[in-house]
Amino acid sequence: MLTPGMGAVSTTFMAGVELVRKGCALPIGSVTQLATIRLGKRTERRTPLIREFVPLAPLDSLVFGGWDIFPDTAYEAAGKADVLKPHHLEEVKGLLSSIRPMRAAFDRAYVKKLDGTHVKKAKTKFDLAEEIKDDIQQFKKGTGAERLVMVWCGSTEVFLDSHLVHADPAKFEHAMKTNHPAISPSMLYAWAAITSGVPFANGAPNLTVDIPALQELARQHNVPICGKDFKTGQTLLKTALAPCFKARMLGLKGWFSTNILGNRDGEVLDDPDSFKTKEESKLGVLEHILQPQLYPELYGKMCHKVRINYYPPRGDNKEGWDNIDIFGWLDYPMQIKVDFLCRDSILAAPIVLDLVLFLDLTQRAGLRGIQEWLSFYFKSPMCAPQLYPEHDLFIQSMKLKNTLRWMMGEELITHLGAEYYD
Ligand SMILES: NC(=O)c1ccc[n+]([C@@H]2O[C@H](COP(=O)([O-])OP(=O)(O)OC[C@H]3O[C@@H](n4cnc5c(N)ncnc54)[C@H](O)[C@@H]3O)[C@@H](O)[C@H]2O)c1
Repeated sequence: MLTPGMGAVSTTFMAGVELVRKGCALPIGSVTQLATIRLGKRTERRTPLIREFVPLAPLDSLVFGGWDIFPDTAYEAAGKADVLKPHHLEEVKGLLSSIRPMRAAFDRAYVKKLDGTHVKKAKTKFDLAEEIKDDIQQFKKGTGAERLVMVWCGSTEVFLDSHLVHADPAKFEHAMKTNHPAISPSMLYAWAAITSGVPFANGAPNLTVDIPALQELARQHNVPICGKDFKTGQTLLKTALAPCFKARMLGLKGWFSTNILGNRDGEVLDDPDSFKTKEESKLGVLEHILQPQLYPELYGKMCHKVRINYYPPRGDNKEGWDNIDIFGWLDYPMQIKVDFLCRDSILAAPIVLDLVLFLDLTQRAGLRGIQEWLSFYFKSPMCAPQLYPEHDLFIQSMKLKNTLRWMMGEELITHLGAEYYD
């Protein structure tokens, strides 16, 4: 299990897996560990745990590694991230202290608020990517891991538009060799993973693997990929509430979302270029769920705004406020206020675990390219160019579970009428 970026999310994930393995904590928030899946008719009463239904790698078999621009061990980085309480960190000090980041492929032009010394030096981006490939092989050899998965847990990069050099693998490779600015560091990790046969998930809103060149490579190398941007706090709630309004044909005039957070992620997002990447990722959600083109009188004029404010006193404990202006029967207005005092990395860590286990399963099941059934975990789900992304949390959940049923040769569940006991 490899993470480019060993900050708050990555170290909270590693520490959590170890605490669960030691029997000190429960894997709360993890679908692979806790959720059941209904099989067959309701009368059959078959609801195994997902981890007993599909052959997932057991937690005991996971080993961890990563890259960062700071040389801190996972223990030191977790201490600085200040997510977990000291008693939890002490319990896993042995493992976390042994995880030292490899030197990062980094360029300040893409994350302006950070500067680190633990970085690779090479003439071209292609050379950097080749070094990452070597790191992957060394990690595999050193740990004896049979299979690998990579999840980008690095900082949010500046906003990049898709470019001609992203069009196919040959153009992409040429652009790496000529240090083209449209190739960001996260793309180098993704290229290295895919060409090493390693599944890749993108936890940040960066373009990264959401480009034709890397998607084509993923198909060529039989590698599953998915992204972008872990769906954790405010957007998780948004994609649960918006389907409710639409299901009842309630209108929406406006949705104002603001956040305060004070972790390093918040500091990076204080840069307008990195924020733009995040903003795009957060804004797409409502349009796709509410479909104003189909319901112009309900959603045609909605105003959607998202703000993120870097406010150091809160650390990783983000507060997300939502003011939602809805309207009902005869156009009468109503308001809903949501104030979510959440913990960013506590919500993100189980997502990393599920993605690792599901991507590994997916590769063994012979699936490759974009894994839309994992949209459930992302704010800005990747999908084939001719499709639109599915944002509705409940449709995503159904799609995820039906994909697992399909993999195991079970009947898909369509929720037809009661007389069929479906
Ligand atoms: N926590 C959440 O709820 C959440 C939700 C969605 C997305 N994310 C995204 O996940 C990512 C990680 O979040 P976090 O809270 O752990 O942030 P963090 O700042 O604590 O950790 C990110 C780490 O990545 C490192 N890094 C930056 N560029 C790198 C590179 N090129 N190579 C290797 N390392 C690099 C940084 O030094 C830092 O240690 C961010 O992009 C964030 O936007 C987080």
